[in-house]
Parts: sequence; C-alpha cells; structure tokens
Amino acid sequence: MKKLYLIGKSLRHSISPLIHNKILSNFGIDAVYSNVELPDFEKLKEFVEMVKKDGDVVGFNITIPYKEDILEFCDEVSEDVRIIQAANTVKKEGEKLVAYNTDWLGFKRSLEEVGISVKDKRILILGAGGAAKACIYGLYRMGVKEVFVANRTYEKAESLKEVFQDILKILPVEWLRRYEFKYDIIINTTSVGMFPNIESSPFDFENYVAGIPVFVYDMIYNPPKTTFLEEAEKKGSKTENGLKMLVYQAVEAEKIWFDIVNLSQSFLLEILKECEKKI
Ligand code: ATR
Repeated sequence: MKKLYLIGKSLRHSISPLIHNKILSNFGIDAVYSNVELPDFEKLKEFVEMVKKDGDVVGFNITIPYKEDILEFCDEVSEDVRIIQAANTVKKEGEKLVAYNTDWLGFKRSLEEVGISVKDKRILILGAGGAAKACIYGLYRMGVKEVFVANRTYEKAESLKEVFQDILKILPVEWLRRYEFKYDIIINTTSVGMFPNIESSPFDFENYVAGIPVFVYDMIYNPPKTTFLEEAEKKGSKTENGLKMLVYQAVEAEKIWFDIVNLSQSFLLEILKECEKKI
C-alpha cells in the first residue's frame, strides 16, 4: 500500500485525512493518507530521511509551521514555489523530492466560484504569513494590480515586497482603525478567530463606517462562521470561509501525486458536506 502524509506541528483538528482518503478510495487507489505531528525542525529532518528511504511513500503535504522550512530538503521546486517561497505539497519523483504549492490554486478556485470580480477592487489582506502569500499570488494570477496588506508585525508585511513588490501596499496595522478607509474585499489569512479562540476577530466591522464590503473571506474553517464573518454578514457583505480552499488544495495535490483528472461537482459537494459534519 502506498503512503501519503500531512506533516505539521499540531494536527489534532485536521480533517485532511478525511478528504484525501475519500478521494483515494473513490478512485480505487491503494494508498492511505495520515497525519504526522513533528514538534521541531530536528524531527522534520528525520521525517524527510524516512520518506526518502521508504519506497511506498508517494508524497506528503506540509502545514504550519514547515511550509518554508521544507524547501531546504527539496531537490526541485515548481515555478509557483520559486515565487511564493512556500510549499504545501511534495512529490517523490525517483530519488528527488519536488515541491509544489496548491494553496493558491485552492484559494483561487474557491474565490472564482463565489463569482465576484476581483479586478479593480480595493482588496485588504489581513496577515503576512504563508497563507497570505498564497492569497496574494492567487489574486495576482487573477489579474489584480494592487492589494493592501496589514499585519501585526509590520516588518513581516514589508518582507512580502521582496516577492510581490509591484502590487503591494503595506498598511500599518493602526490604519485598520481608520474606519473611513474603504475596502471592497477583505480577506483574513491570520489565525485570529480560529477555534478555540472564537470570540476574537482581526477586523472591527462594528466601527467600520466606510460602507459595506462586497465580499469578506476568512481562510479559517473552524468554526465555519467566525466572529469576523458573522460581523461582516451583519453589515450585509457576502462571505466565504476556508473550507472550499482546503478541499480544493487537497484535490490539486492528489492531481500531482496520481494524475487524477477532474473530480465531479457532486463528489466535491459530498466531500464538503462530510467535512462540515466533522468540524
Ligand atoms: P500561515 O502559514 O498560516 O500564514 P504564519 O506564517 O504563522 O501561518 O502566519 C500567521 C499570520 O497570522 C501572521 O501574519 C501573524 O502575524 P505576525 O506576523 O505578527 O506573527 C498573524 N497572527 C497570528 N496570531 C495573531 C494575533 N493574535 N494577532 C494578530 N495577528 C496574528
């Protein structure tokens, strides 16, 4: 039996095995996907050594906090990874480990399905980590010419300029209290509001007076409706959580590992429903 893994520091609430094992069994692929918690960099190194030796391992996914660290162990990177400098998917190709990024594809597809045009919109991104990079790259590939980024640590947002210089405008986080500053789309890529800290929100919609954002997106999917999304809905914005992005990035990873062609819409809906039940 072939093996696939998700590696990360804390995977207790991960629903990735559910998504991947459902896809694998649907396509009759004799493989199993499981989680491996790696507490530190040393353990990451040991994991990579194990993977290289084990002929049954096809590849693995990577989540927080190793999406950048993993690149050090990869022999080749895709063009997207070269730009984003973060990978969530690795495939073993012979002796080599090849790094891919499917997060941005998952984000882009979930956004396209909402049916809102992103071109010429004022877009605010909250956060400047790996998830923000996938988001900015997705928007860039969708033709967006300018995005505003606000992050708790200003320097981290500044460092994104090395990658996305032309389209980024960095806002000091205090500017989020300039409530008259208008945004059409607001996207949360931080972990603020994630279970179990469900009362917190990365944006104060109650005091925001500049109008109603057309669309508000939270990459968090647990809880399905964060305080951030709840407040945005109260304002009248259309909203979306991160579950579709999670499922679509997984589908793209399966395509890389097994050349699976497009999954039917009804099967994807079935996966989404099962995930919702599990969360
Ligand atoms: P990911 O790969 O999921 O993006 P990450 O690289 O650790 O994870 O980034 C997490 C993001 O959430 C960062 O932008 C982080 O802000 P800092 O750069 O200041 O660390 C943001 N974040 C996490 N906890 C936060 C909090 N309590 N308040 C504000 N921002 C927070």
